[in-house]
Amino acid sequence: MRRSFLTGLVLVALLLAGCRGTRSDNPPFHMNLDMDFQQKFGPQEANPFFEDDAAMRTPVSGTVARGHLQADSALYRARTSEGEYVEKIPITVTQKVLERGQERYKIHCTPCHGKKGDGNGVIMRGDYGYTPAPSYHTDRLRKAPDGYLYDAIANGVRSMPAYGQKIPVLDRWAIVAYIRALQRSQNATEKAVPPGVQARLNGTDSGMPVGEASTE
Ligand code: HEC
Repeated sequence: MRRSFLTGLVLVALLLAGCRGTRSDNPPFHMNLDMDFQQKFGPQEANPFFEDDAAMRTPVSGTVARGHLQADSALYRARTSEGEYVEKIPITVTQKVLERGQERYKIHCTPCHGKKGDGNGVIMRGDYGYTPAPSYHTDRLRKAPDGYLYDAIANGVRSMPAYGQKIPVLDRWAIVAYIRALQRSQNATEKAVPPGVQARLNGTDSGMPVGEASTE
C-alpha cells in the first residue's frame, strides 16, 4: 500500500518536473521523423536540379487530365475532323434546351446584344465607348454555321470577350439554339406563324400584347 503511494508520488513529481515553465528554442525531440523534414518545392519555385531551373514540370505532351479528353470535336470545339465549323448544333434541341438557352442568353448576352439580339443592349445604349455589338439579324449571321456562333461564345470574336470560362459546353449550344430562335423571330413571314396564333398577331384576339416589344 505504502509502496504504491510512494511510486505514485514519484510519478507525479516526474510529470511536474516535465513542465518546468521554461521555454526552449530547440525543436521538440522527434521520436519518429516520418517525412516531417523533407525537401519540397512550392508552386513556381526554382529548382536548380532541372535544366530550366523550374521545380514545376511540364506534363509530357499529349497528356490529358482525367475526364478532360473531350474527344468529341463537334461537341466541344464546334469543328469537324477537318477543322471546319459544324453546320448544325450537335445536340438535340428540345423546348427545355431552348428555355435554358433563353435564360443563359438573358444573363450573359443581353447586356450588349439586347433581348432581341439587335445589338441594342443596355451597355450599348450608354456612352461607354464600347465597340458596338452587332445585330444577329443580318444575312451573314443568319447563314453562319451553328459552330461559328458557338465559337464566338467560347473564344470571343475580335473585340468581344470569350465566355468559355463562364458558360459550360451544353449551355453554349443552348444559347446558339436560342439565337437561331431570335433570328427566326425577327425574320419570318406571317405565314410561318401557326394559324391559331395569327389571330392574336392581327389584334383580333387580346390574348397577347401586340407592339409592346421591350427595347432591352
Ligand atoms: C461586353 C459586351 C458583349 C457581350 C456580353 C457579348 N457580346 Fe457578342 N459581341 C460583342 C461585340 C462588341 C461584338 C463585335 C466584335 C467585333 O466585331 O469586334 C460581338 C459580336 C458577336 C457575334 C458576331 C460575330 C460576327 O461575326 O460578327 C456573335 C455571334 C456574338 N457576339 C454572340 C454573343 C453571345 C452568344 C453572347 C452571350 C454569350 C455575347 N455575344 C455576349 C459584345 C458582346
